[in-house]
Amino acid sequence: MLVARAAWALSIPLTIGALLVPQCPRAPATCSLLLSCLTSSPSGGGTVGNRSPGLCSSAARSASMASGAHVKARCPVYPGSQTRRFPVPDDKVSWETEWPEYLPPSYTAPSVLARPAWADPDISSFSPYFNALDGTVDRTSHEGEYRVEDGKPLNPHGRTGLTERGLLGRWGPNHAADPIVTRWKRDGAGHSVIHSESHLPVLQFVAIMRKDCGEWAIPGGMVDPGERVSLTLQREFSEEALNLLAVNPEERAWLRDRIASLFASPGFQVYEGYVDDPRNTDNAWMETVAVNFHDQSGDSVSELPLQAGDDAGQVSWMDIDSTLSYYANHSLFLEMVAKERHAHW
Ligand code: BGC
Repeated sequence: MLVARAAWALSIPLTIGALLVPQCPRAPATCSLLLSCLTSSPSGGGTVGNRSPGLCSSAARSASMASGAHVKARCPVYPGSQTRRFPVPDDKVSWETEWPEYLPPSYTAPSVLARPAWADPDISSFSPYFNALDGTVDRTSHEGEYRVEDGKPLNPHGRTGLTERGLLGRWGPNHAADPIVTRWKRDGAGHSVIHSESHLPVLQFVAIMRKDCGEWAIPGGMVDPGERVSLTLQREFSEEALNLLAVNPEERAWLRDRIASLFASPGFQVYEGYVDDPRNTDNAWMETVAVNFHDQSGDSVSELPLQAGDDAGQVSWMDIDSTLSYYANHSLFLEMVAKERHAHW
């Protein structure tokens, strides 16, 4: 796995079919875009922390690119609170730019201060190992080594206008995984729907409407301590899009089988890295691994009964289209999938 990560870092060009290196025109921040083969097989070699064990490094190809500074991570009012961020103009985002006038407020949500299992204690009362696997908690970043100042990790994408953890449980990186489950849109006769402007077939993905903000999103979730990303992808999809925890045992067994076979198929890793998430702060931020699982013939996952789980208000097959808006970085990931599959965007 170390070898695979080193290969990505060097941006070794590899082939998946006859693809071109993907473009990232609307990336909200510097990003690592990855196209690689991933299976959920637990036998895919060693891991770095809880990173994807089944990555086929020989099929990996990466492209890193810089673009604008994070935007959602500077939203004026911190989500779920009345706390206003210190306004950070584009030219002051970078920590390299001296800015003595920068006086951001501190905020940690009461739900985090209550010390649930998924949250760290206050920084003064424990000694985390940053940039390392700290027990079962992965405090390494997909973006490389991050700075730690006065004992606190610094957001690798710069100032956000707010310190401490906000709604995030971990100091430093908070790791998530995003399963992008897709199928071709079909008409009543079962034919693929072609978009009238792009003349390309339309892809659909399983989307949830997040309860916390009402935005459409990929049904992702947090990687549990010690959990492999490949398992998180499967677990989150089962919980959020199929509500597996609430279905009766017989149906659950049948669903489990179907899901396991979908997630055992080679996935296509779209992204790993920092997410421009509205919950980010100067000392805590979201990172994710997004992987696409595609039902080419429309007869596997397409038939599963979608049912919204705990964090989802609604769940639905949704068209992938650049005119729609999605949560955090999610449109970037969906664009990558559309380009990879030669679909409408
Ligand atoms: C969500 C993921 C998202 C990540 C970063 C998590 O809470 O479940 O879908 O990519 O946050 O925004």
